[in-house]
Amino acid sequence: MSKVTMANFPELPYAVEEAVNRLRININFLGNDIRKIMVVSTMPNEGKSFVTMQLWRQMAQAGTSSILVDLDLRKSIMTEKYGITSDDGATIKGTSFYLSHTVGIEEAVFQTEIEHGDIMPNTDNVVNPSMLLESRRFEEMLEYMSEKYRYVLLDSPPLNLVSDGERIGNLCDGAILVVRGGETPKAMVKHSILQLERAGCPLLGIVLNRVQGAGSGYYYKKYGGNYYGGHYYGSEYYYGK
Ligand SMILES: Nc1ncnc2c1ncn2[C@@H]1O[C@H](COP(=O)(O)OP(=O)(O)OP(=O)(O)O)[C@@H](O)[C@H]1O
Ligand SMILES: [Mg+2]
Repeated sequence: MSKVTMANFPELPYAVEEAVNRLRININFLGNDIRKIMVVSTMPNEGKSFVTMQLWRQMAQAGTSSILVDLDLRKSIMTEKYGITSDDGATIKGTSFYLSHTVGIEEAVFQTEIEHGDIMPNTDNVVNPSMLLESRRFEEMLEYMSEKYRYVLLDSPPLNLVSDGERIGNLCDGAILVVRGGETPKAMVKHSILQLERAGCPLLGIVLNRVQGAGSGYYYKKYGGNYYGGHYYGSEYYYGK
């Protein structure tokens, strides 16, 4: 298994770090059967990737072996945003590559500088990933991961776009629903909860994210010369506006 370095991993302010820590502890209390967890939201841009990444980091840092799987197969920006590069200089192959090729899983899973924290990024975005997610290979991949790691955290596409979220939910032990404070209409959140129920995926909890002025949802901290979040994804929709 190769190793990657994440050059742009942000440091969180205390309140955000604490909020993620509480989430981690609550998940621990759910018991040993909750291993494959999807992080999902109703609409795009609510903070799924942010929550998945931070939760994964804290779990690994607490000594619990965890893998983060990027299932945003249509438009992942994870490697760019976090400055993920392979230590051996090779091109990173991730989720969609693994699912569509006959290669060993170690070709697409990477160790990181965070001990106990492995990652499967997605680098080749595909137009129609439903076939890949519906495949037996995807099911087997998740099974394999849940035996190898204590937590398999799945950064998923939003529920409102396509049926991928329901397929993923069907294969998971539970879901964390990320809701962007003050943005996502209540009726849509309710609909997402129904979708998860229909997929047979227990709702483990809801994260209210990006809450204006709450102190825990927002921050503006400099790291490595970039402003986290503002660099690749545009800063117009947050930072206290
Ligand atoms: N709690 C937070 N504090 C600060 N910035 C945040 C927080 N949550 C999300 N962001 C930022 O908001 C933007 C959107 O978050 P993110 O990419 O995690 O959303 P997403 O739900 O994964 O979006 P998509 O549906 O496009 O995959 C990103 O720039 C992210 O860094
Ligand atoms: Mg995302």
